[in-house]
Amino acid sequence: MKKLSARRRHPLAAVVVLLLALAATGGLYAAFAPAGTAKADETAQSLAIEEGKKLYTVGCASCHGTGGQGTTDGPSLVGVGSAAVDFQVGTGRMPAQQPGAQVPRKKVIYSQAEIDQLAAYVASLGAGPITPKAGQYSPDGADIAKGGDLFRNNCAQCHNFTGEGGALTHGKYAPNLANVSPKHLYEAMQTGPQNMPSFPDTTMPEKEKKDIIAYVQAVNSDRTETPGGFKLGALGPVSEGLFAWVFGLGALIACAVWVAAHTAKAKKS
Ligand code: HEC
Ligand code: HEC
Repeated sequence: MKKLSARRRHPLAAVVVLLLALAATGGLYAAFAPAGTAKADETAQSLAIEEGKKLYTVGCASCHGTGGQGTTDGPSLVGVGSAAVDFQVGTGRMPAQQPGAQVPRKKVIYSQAEIDQLAAYVASLGAGPITPKAGQYSPDGADIAKGGDLFRNNCAQCHNFTGEGGALTHGKYAPNLANVSPKHLYEAMQTGPQNMPSFPDTTMPEKEKKDIIAYVQAVNSDRTETPGGFKLGALGPVSEGLFAWVFGLGALIACAVWVAAHTAKAKKS
């Protein structure tokens, strides 16, 4: 007894105990905790990919090929990324139906969970733009005026000044952006569907995309209130010019007729 307690009081005893305790805790933690969650994530991910592959084989492989390599009826999906799938399937464009100049928006036939699985599968074929998180596309606190500038510089040539949309060549068109969700706005900029150029983070940082989303939402929620007078379909100079021609010239002609009629009367009397 005496010997033991004497050794316990050795000046290094406390340090040794502390080190042993630390090593044991660290070792246990390393052995269980992170490996456990990482494994769980990995299995969830591979399950999603597996489910996505099943959905893909039934709904998409006929046009995009069994491994996403593409066929004559649809382009390769290797490297388009989960964002492209979330956009295309989430806006109902995919699965495409009839051939035409452009694949239109239609009713969405997959649930968001199924879209996520399809996206996970396609993303597993090759790295590409990743589906954005709410914090990335939410317009909260963004600069609407700056978004307006960016929109006029980058988007208005196709989508018109406030996103009314417009015709392009060969029967294609840039759609109206009034009812597009912030997430799909963000994904369209990330992936550049069909004739639209893409605006990756290297050329247009996340902050600028947010500003644009805030602008598109602001001009479309205020459609009833137009500080500049009549909105004339919000189509810009075309409808404004037409308005000036029809009503401006019309008023001038009416004036001329009125003056002519009165001078004729004055002469008679
Ligand atoms: C009837 C044929 C057809 C079917 C079925 C179809 N697609 Fe497509 N898909 C196309 C065509 C054609 C395009 C190219 C559209 C374009 O760019 O003009 C396309 C484009 C895409 C794109 C965009 C690729 C890019 O480069 O950004 C994605 C993503 C996509 N399809 C995913 C899917 C998914 C997922 C399904 C199944 C749910 C599916 N498609 C079903 C024909 C099809
Ligand atoms: C060269 C013309 C062009 C430019 C520039 C352009 N777009 Fe587009 N945009 C298109 C076309 C064409 C489509 C339709 C693609 C499709 O249906 O797959 C489209 C589709 C979209 C959609 C999807 C709308 C929907 O109904 O789902 C959004 C959102 C969008 N564009 C936003 C933008 C924004 C924001 C910018 C500027 C940063 C921009 N576009 C610049 C041509 C353009």
